[in-house]
Amino acid sequence: MIRPLPPNATIGIVGGGQLGRMSALAAARLGYRCHILTTEPDSPAAQVAAGATLGDYEAPATLRAFAAAVDVITFEFENVSAEGLDLLASLKPVRPSPAILRISQYRIAEKSFLNGVGARTAPWSPVASVAELEAAVARHGLPAILKTTRLGYDGKGQAMLRDAADLAPAFAELSPKPLILEGFVDFAQELSVIVARGADGAVTAFDAVENRHRDHILDLTLAPAQVPDQIAATARSVAIRVAEALELVGLLAVEMFVDSGGRVLVNELAPRPHNSGHWTIDACPVSQFEMHIRAVAGLPLPHATRHSDAVMKNLVGPEETALWPALLAAPGLIPHLYGKTEAREGRKMGHVTRLFPKGALPGPFGIAAALGPAAPASA
Ligand SMILES: Nc1ncnc2c1ncn2[C@@H]1O[C@H](COP(=O)(O)OP(=O)(O)O)[C@@H](O)[C@H]1O
Ligand SMILES: [Mg+2]
Repeated sequence: MIRPLPPNATIGIVGGGQLGRMSALAAARLGYRCHILTTEPDSPAAQVAAGATLGDYEAPATLRAFAAAVDVITFEFENVSAEGLDLLASLKPVRPSPAILRISQYRIAEKSFLNGVGARTAPWSPVASVAELEAAVARHGLPAILKTTRLGYDGKGQAMLRDAADLAPAFAELSPKPLILEGFVDFAQELSVIVARGADGAVTAFDAVENRHRDHILDLTLAPAQVPDQIAATARSVAIRVAEALELVGLLAVEMFVDSGGRVLVNELAPRPHNSGHWTIDACPVSQFEMHIRAVAGLPLPHATRHSDAVMKNLVGPEETALWPALLAAPGLIPHLYGKTEAREGRKMGHVTRLFPKGALPGPFGIAAALGPAAPASA
């Protein structure tokens, strides 16, 4: 049993991005301080935190200095090496556990784990050579997606294979090896469920939401997902089953596909707050960030309930960031900006949320209208 972290204790967050920033803001409201481990002095999370340790995520001296400054350690960034995780865990409690991070860092371990607990995934095979890739394509067919097993994000580290000529060049281009081949899921929708589990085993999941991507980057989240009740219930129960099987203490985002037959397949896991949960700040009494902090601090977890329906639109790159003054002036949009100074192409700079009464999420044209200046091409 974990004793609740007392007020004014310090939560260490590995990673300085917007997920850490919004976690730190939620922690501050609960009376905690946050201390950020980050490579950049002016990172979005460090700007709003009580302190920061600056340096490489792999340098033992940096990890030691960070651990010495905090009472408990959590993450907004998952890719710390096994040695780094072990070092941190030898110094302070790490939640979620390093074992969970290791599974989510390595697609082969992730898919094996998921299938082992009865969660469906796309058909997949590990691929360490062109010959293995050819054999895997013979098994799963084309199109298929070849991915790196580590360090992928926003669609980076993957290649779509459409015909036989694509195999060898894609294999050569992607690294590090081994890779993983996944059968292509002709999905009707992409969903995600964010689930929290406390130190006492209490578990609660937010409603399933629908995610739409543009250029492989999340563009829009619709909460709740516009799917039959039975699919939404399946999505939530799969996420809860995975969190329990992992003995999670913390927050877990489960990305899923709904295929053309209405089946729910798990795509990937992220044991941290997730972009598809930003809507919870404005539409839920307890957001994903507060749930994260509560779980990590050993506080009770309230039910993940929603008082409103919501649409969340990411602000990505220079063009959408330039809309900021218009978004501030648009009635009904709730603005969030992450404090990044340079709006590079593909960079997530902020988001806006629009709330609707429960059950009143509009159809596609209504969503575009409701987002006003932020109306996306994909709405
Ligand atoms: N097996 C698949 N079949 C169809 N689409 C896929 C498949 N795997 C990934 N995708 C698409 O690519 C996106 C990014 O893939 P994902 O595995 O989530 O990597 P990451 O989010 O780490 O970049 C998914 O959200 C989905 O739109
Ligand atoms: Mg993903």
